[in-house]
Amino acid sequence: MEYTVKSGNPEKQRIGCVVIPVYASRKLSPSAKIIDKASNGYISNLVRRGEIEGDLGNVLLLHNVENTLCDRVLLIGCGKEKDINVKTFYKINHNMVKRLQISGATEIASYLTEIPVKRKDINWKIQHSIEAIDESLYRFNQLKSEKKEARRPLRKFIFSVNGRGQLMQGEQFVRQGMAISAGIHLAKDLANLPGNLCTPEYLASQAKKLERQHDAIKTTVLEEKDMQKLGMGALLSVSKGSHEPAKLIIMEYNANDKKQAPVVLVGKGVTFDSGGISLKPGAAMDEMKYDMCGAASVIGVINACAELQLPINIVGIIPSVENMPDGIASRPGDIVTSMSGQTIEILNTDAEGRLILCDALTYAEQFNPDVVIDIATLTGACIVALGAHTAGLLSNHSPLANDLLSAGKASGDRCWQLPLWDDYQEQLKSNFADMANIGGKGAGTITAACFLSRFTKKYHLAHLDIAGVAWKSGSHKGATGRPVDLLTQYILDRVDENK
Ligand code: BES
Ligand code: MN
Ligand code: ZN
Repeated sequence: MEYTVKSGNPEKQRIGCVVIPVYASRKLSPSAKIIDKASNGYISNLVRRGEIEGDLGNVLLLHNVENTLCDRVLLIGCGKEKDINVKTFYKINHNMVKRLQISGATEIASYLTEIPVKRKDINWKIQHSIEAIDESLYRFNQLKSEKKEARRPLRKFIFSVNGRGQLMQGEQFVRQGMAISAGIHLAKDLANLPGNLCTPEYLASQAKKLERQHDAIKTTVLEEKDMQKLGMGALLSVSKGSHEPAKLIIMEYNANDKKQAPVVLVGKGVTFDSGGISLKPGAAMDEMKYDMCGAASVIGVINACAELQLPINIVGIIPSVENMPDGIASRPGDIVTSMSGQTIEILNTDAEGRLILCDALTYAEQFNPDVVIDIATLTGACIVALGAHTAGLLSNHSPLANDLLSAGKASGDRCWQLPLWDDYQEQLKSNFADMANIGGKGAGTITAACFLSRFTKKYHLAHLDIAGVAWKSGSHKGATGRPVDLLTQYILDRVDENK
């Protein structure tokens, strides 16, 4: 899709369709008033007759409106002007795309940028219109033999800005929206690909592909024998039961020549989580192909940062394995030694995420990170606690936690903090090893983070549990690309601060 910005009156746009907001109680937006005036009260007449009320979900497509240069005018109901938040803004954009797709128009001038969204400026609306439009258009069709393509697909959106003064900044936010959206798209594609195709080896090949596409990215892949030498007994204990060899993928994005300490992103890359010998129940087990969504988000974020050529150093570390039951798989009760030297009693082979992450987190030390953020579909308990609206955030450093919380608010891709108190550490006690890999009853998300924190004493850690937000179940089953938006926003904020 092509995106750009432009200033100018709606009736003067020589284009396939002009999109205009109207509000509840039949209230016209400024652009609607302009078209109304040009067309001698046509819009206000329609509204008075009740053809469109302006409620959220209302849409009305008009053709050949008098004294306009466009082929069509699409009126979009936005609900009460005062109630429009980030969620509603996305919905409004979805409703627009849905109607446009069957309209025949291919080039669109959108005046939805004039909608007031609580605490958001025009630049935010430009960036997030792009993300919302791309989200509505996303389909995962690669594996269907019949690919349904629209007969006249949408090609171009032009967002209206107020005056020429807003053009330059507007273009910057178009670039930002497109880069983040591409990162989200990439993360979704990787995640939606099933476990027989998206293996650890496939993830490694995709990381290598990014290296070829961007000069600033260097990708290294460690094999099982390399990990053996490093003493990654915890990670290797998980992949033991699978025929797919484990990979440790390291992506270095270096675009800040100063010897600036990097942001390290560690993404859980379990390409299928059957539970292992502690086998999961069958219902919805297919969704455990999404257990690599943390890894996918790391790849998506690095891709977005490289597209934008952000002046920053980032290291992505992806421990990738498949968790399967087998005659040589790890058993409950097995004790393994992690790269840190600490021993772990595996009381449940389904708590495998922390076993691969702990070795990746120890490996992260060598990069002398400024901060480390790990992203993982780690616990079902996180879904119980927070549902599907927000990721769980746990951190040993409150400035880092606060930065992520505010990046979440800014982007709309939110996280919510849970305590990482020492009080919970005792739940990990083992009679036979330094720790157990499960924390027993209660606070499952926190005890998982406590486990990780035992491997991150040398640096600032934030842990994002994305079990609830990384994909949707049910009839709309599919990856969301979260938290690519949140993390890219966090990095953009850091880059801004360094200026
Ligand atoms: N990948 C799962 C967590 C998960 C489950 C995410 C369902 C999203 C939906 C993880 O590896 C796991 O199995 N965790 C266990 C931990 C337990 C054994 C302590 C869980 O949450 O049940
Ligand atoms: Mn598991
Ligand atoms: Zn898992």
